[in-house]
Amino acid sequence: MARLVRPIAQFACRHPWALTTVGLGVALIGSLQPIAEAHKAITSKYNYTEHVFPILRDRCGRCHYPGGPTPMSLLTHQDAMPWAESMREQLVGQKMPPWYADPTGPAVRGGHYIPTRELDVLVTWATGGTPNGPIGNQTVPEVPPPAPWPGGPPDLQVKMTKPHELPVGMQEDQVDVTLPSGITEEKWVKAIDILPSDASLVRDVEVGVQNGPILGLWVPGHDAIAAPNGTGFRIAAGAVLTLKLHYKKSWMDEQNAKSEQTTVGLYFTDAPLSGKSIEALEVKGPDTGSKTDATSFAGVFKTGARLLALRPSFDQGYKEAVVEAVLPNNRRVTVMKFQAPQPLWYRRYWLQEPIELPAGTKLEVKALPAIVDEFAPPVQKRYPLQVSFDYVPQ
Ligand code: HEC
Repeated sequence: MARLVRPIAQFACRHPWALTTVGLGVALIGSLQPIAEAHKAITSKYNYTEHVFPILRDRCGRCHYPGGPTPMSLLTHQDAMPWAESMREQLVGQKMPPWYADPTGPAVRGGHYIPTRELDVLVTWATGGTPNGPIGNQTVPEVPPPAPWPGGPPDLQVKMTKPHELPVGMQEDQVDVTLPSGITEEKWVKAIDILPSDASLVRDVEVGVQNGPILGLWVPGHDAIAAPNGTGFRIAAGAVLTLKLHYKKSWMDEQNAKSEQTTVGLYFTDAPLSGKSIEALEVKGPDTGSKTDATSFAGVFKTGARLLALRPSFDQGYKEAVVEAVLPNNRRVTVMKFQAPQPLWYRRYWLQEPIELPAGTKLEVKALPAIVDEFAPPVQKRYPLQVSFDYVPQ
């Protein structure tokens, strides 16, 4: 029984609405998942030590490690077991791992997919009694935490001049920070990364240049993916960096005052031969409140464009979204497909192969809203529905 105390307490305080759901569960079906779990016979042919651990380490461990950006590690049997039901839910609902480019669409760089076979192992284990190992007390090797700058030390590091405070009672906050870059000559940026002083607080960061491009979007478990060779973002001498930081305390810190002071890292590259910086075309979706019907919206490239990346932002959960280019001769090319995208993971998806598009190409986005779970907490509309296209003008 002891092992049940923690997960139930966590569940209740993380999701205030959970109490309602749980209450209904008891009244209507008379069985409560987490309790049923404790008495479940072991039916899973997969165990943690041999089968589940390597998958959790490789697919989830970049975010779910002790002291990392999430409130729970999944890297020991003891840590993972209480999360079995939640894991099943997240995996089946396609919410974890949080990577929403659909593998049946054009290839995207640095994808964090979980293959179906591995998903089956995790779900079988999670619903089949969560066995540890074939015999008794199995242990798994300790996984070292990721390096502070997984992509190597950046060429330039700029730290926030003062910490941002999240007092007791403040659960979430968004702040805009400007930081002089200190650069004294024109530079070309190929990638950014973020080193939070407290990884548990920083949920996402948009790094841009004042009156200039958005250099990158950071989310936990981010790879500092570089712009393709021969491309980059120009930043002028004296450039001022702009950071939009989204802070969110985990349920463990609700009663604590916290503070955070991020360092942004820039990776430089050579000036491209063309001298052209990456630009962005923003295509905004309609803002009609909570949507239940398919939505479509479009934008047009006025010049020829070498399309490199997409930055979709979603105002609510969608079942799927598809981006197509309609060429001037009316031929349609699929640019990217998204599967079950969620509003909280605003990131840049780099195309594996840039796409050359002639002037006059229309970019069409079609998004199909997810069926709304009436027990889900209301989505905070932090981001509008839109897709930004990063391209080099031709
Ligand atoms: C890129 C980082 C990242 C990866 C990779 C990742 N997660 Fe998560 N996960 C998070 C974050 C951040 C949260 C906290 C909830 C949120 O803000 O979305 C979370 C929450 C969860 C939760 C709890 C949901 C809740 O609040 O009840 C579960 C369970 C979970 N993840 C399972 C997994 C599993 C299983 C994998 C691997 C297949 C995985 N995650 C991979 C970042 C990640």
